[in-house]
Amino acid sequence: MGVIDLRSDTVTQPTAEMRRAMATAPLGDDVMGDDPTVNRLEEIAATRMGKEASVFLPSGTMGNLIGIAVNARQGEEVIADSESHVFLYEGAGAAAVTGVQIQQVATPAGVMSPEQIEAAIRPRDDFHFALTAALFLENTHNRHGGIVWPLDALQAAADTAHEHGIRVHLDGARIFNAAVALGIHVADIAAPADTVTFCISKGLGCPAGSLFCGTRESVEKARRWRKRLGGGMRQTGVLAAAGLVALDTMVDRLAEDHANARTLAEGLAELPGITCDLSRVQTNLIYFDLARISGAQFQEACRQRGLLGEAMGPRRIRFVTHDGIAAADIQSALEICHEVMSA
Ligand SMILES: Cc1ncc(COP(=O)(O)O)c(C=O)c1O
Repeated sequence: MGVIDLRSDTVTQPTAEMRRAMATAPLGDDVMGDDPTVNRLEEIAATRMGKEASVFLPSGTMGNLIGIAVNARQGEEVIADSESHVFLYEGAGAAAVTGVQIQQVATPAGVMSPEQIEAAIRPRDDFHFALTAALFLENTHNRHGGIVWPLDALQAAADTAHEHGIRVHLDGARIFNAAVALGIHVADIAAPADTVTFCISKGLGCPAGSLFCGTRESVEKARRWRKRLGGGMRQTGVLAAAGLVALDTMVDRLAEDHANARTLAEGLAELPGITCDLSRVQTNLIYFDLARISGAQFQEACRQRGLLGEAMGPRRIRFVTHDGIAAADIQSALEICHEVMSA
């Protein structure tokens, strides 16, 4: 039996249809604007997100960094959740590259209230403070368990920022998971934000790539930043071709990943020594806590039995469901976890 890899949805492999599209895509030099496949993906991505334009990037990390660069200037501040990807997992790019400071706001479940946002905005008339330039939101929220922002909460957060002249960037690495979970169009989730990034390299199964979307003006600035950061690539239609297939064929199936995550979480919650907050399991991520063994010990014991997960804290594990993980794999995973926790 093969390994069941639940470390991340980034381990997904391109589908046969993607590989065919990649092999036959018309190509050109994308830095010169000549790659018809990239141009098509950028057009379709912008339309899907309900924005004027988009630009194809190598990664979600670059998308967020560009989100900072486009929406804030050196010496200014952006507000982000203390558990956000942009703050925790992107190599301090905001500080190191753009000279922008991130003010962290701790939220109980990944959803920032208008009151919290208002309290975090610096007074403009006091030169002691950095100017608050942008609010960063993450949906679905990775470290908060893959939770989905309720649409009215997202709108209220963005409205609060806009009322104070502050721009909104949405880290929508898994925005399609949010849309599928809510049963709404992805553009409705992107609408409150000025700029949004989404990844095709996660649940959508592509080998690489993210799209930064916004007004034409924001996207032009993003293109300059992409070049500056060394992210201008040439015949990237080979990657964009997979993205076009992904947007056509890989979105609706995310519901299957969500159902598998639910089954897995419910099974885990019944095992001795495991606590899993089922209210947070809304999409394809499952975080759970261990009572008796460390995350590292659990991860290693599972690995020896052919199940891969990620230790995300001293006693915390994350499993992620994705394309290539079937219902039968979920049952096998539960059996392995049962064996590990009973040992
Ligand atoms: C919420 C979120 N934002 C951004 C990223 C960064 O994406 P990438 O790995 O493509 O740089 C990730 C990656 O896992 C993520 O989970």
